Amino acid sequence: MSMSYGNTTVCVKSAVVVRSRRVPQWRAQSIAQQKSKSNQTAQILLSEFRQASATPLHRLRQVSDDMTAEMHAGLLSEGGSQQLKMLPTYVEHLPTGDEEGLFYAVDLGGTNFRVLRVQLGGKEKRIMNQEYQEVAIPPELMLGTSKELFDFIAKTLADFVATEGEGFDAHSGHIRELGFAFSFPVLQTSVKSGIVIHWTKGFKIDDAVGKDIVAAFEEAIGRKGDHIRVAALVNDTVGTLARGRFWNEDTMLGVILGTGTNACYVEQADAVSKWRDPPPKSGEMIINLEWGNFRSPHLPRTFADEEVDVESVNPGDQWFEKMVGGMYLGEIVRRVLAKIAQEAGLFGGSSSPKLFEPFSLSTPYVSKMHSDESAELTEVAKILEDVFEIQSTTFQERKIVHDVCDILAERGARLAAAGIVGILKKIGRDGSTTNGSQGLKNSNGKTVVAMDGGLYEHYAQFRSYMQAAIEEMLSETAAKSVVLELSKDGSGIGTALLAASHSQYGTVF
Ligand code: BGC
Repeated sequence: MSMSYGNTTVCVKSAVVVRSRRVPQWRAQSIAQQKSKSNQTAQILLSEFRQASATPLHRLRQVSDDMTAEMHAGLLSEGGSQQLKMLPTYVEHLPTGDEEGLFYAVDLGGTNFRVLRVQLGGKEKRIMNQEYQEVAIPPELMLGTSKELFDFIAKTLADFVATEGEGFDAHSGHIRELGFAFSFPVLQTSVKSGIVIHWTKGFKIDDAVGKDIVAAFEEAIGRKGDHIRVAALVNDTVGTLARGRFWNEDTMLGVILGTGTNACYVEQADAVSKWRDPPPKSGEMIINLEWGNFRSPHLPRTFADEEVDVESVNPGDQWFEKMVGGMYLGEIVRRVLAKIAQEAGLFGGSSSPKLFEPFSLSTPYVSKMHSDESAELTEVAKILEDVFEIQSTTFQERKIVHDVCDILAERGARLAAAGIVGILKKIGRDGSTTNGSQGLKNSNGKTVVAMDGGLYEHYAQFRSYMQAAIEEMLSETAAKSVVLELSKDGSGIGTALLAASHSQYGTVF
């Protein structure tokens, strides 16, 4: 049916020409009727999808309550929650701003990794200088061995260290120190060691699972003969929190909305019942939720989420991440459009092979199409042509595309907001006094949530849907006290800051 619709689309165009050659009127009418019928079917499918993805306030509250409940369970005992790992991070010192010296960071967590260096100048000068280099990870290394991956990273790092020049001042007699942002679930055994639990975001390096990731990295650094040492192993959320804290001491949460998604927060140490070691002197601990693996019966999962999950390298895992994260958003949009194409003849049915190719639509395109405010949705038209090679589209078709982007960005943003509210509730910062651990040191009225990741930084509609959902869920006073702040490059700079605050040489030289 869809293919034949494809042919008729072509006919519609030629109908203008042909009609002047006196095509029978009955034929033109039948084409028009067919087209309008397809349109109606597409609208029905769209509205069903809108309903299935809806996140009304009561549903958000259920999701955030489930998040809080799972947090409690995960803190109680190892494996207490099947979903949230609630990993203590061993980060004892968040940066204060006093840190000085030259520090490096390696940020591994998506399809690109980065090496960077920062020169810290203490309270007055803060970040005096910074440089970074971003490198795409060859796709085969994401599914290869840990030796191959780390040799590649160690080489890039060695080349980068070799370019250290003016504006960067390594302390003579000190070995250079590095923060390692490794943004996958890791069971930390100290601030600079940790065992890989499993991979996410399309990585699958089986030999690394169950092993110390810092040891693997340092061995590769050793093979390159570099004199640089890992001072801190951190999740990107923790780097983001640290970066936020460096500028604003009210920062209590770090959230990543990028390729993947996750959050960490500052918890009272005595709330972490599963902790067996002596409690940290500060009385506080940073807990990495690994909320990507959160699931709840209240999540509005659709056929597209199920397909994405089943066909991923980690089926059954990371449901929340697969509904929110940037790695999947474009793919979900594509699957919805493909279904409407197949069942209602959108874009002439199955005529575009690219539309049926997994991951052919990346999330930045979703953001661009969603931001198209032109009367004719010309940017949408251009992207449909560039990405799917769909040459000509009607306004109604483009509007459907725009709506699908809107529905899914709104859903992801509101779910992320519900997650944040769940954490705020756990620490008693959601405006309700009945729940959560009270008395965290830092309670001068504001709670800053340090945010990082491309979805948050570059997708304006996503950002504003999130903000609106937080305001909707919290009381007016609580909403005023919660500030979402972009902690730009938290996973890079924040990680270097944590290397500084955990330096073996102390923080001030
Ligand atoms: C990882 C987290 C990480 C998040 C954001 C998830 O897939 O499991 O550790 O923080 O992505 O990068």
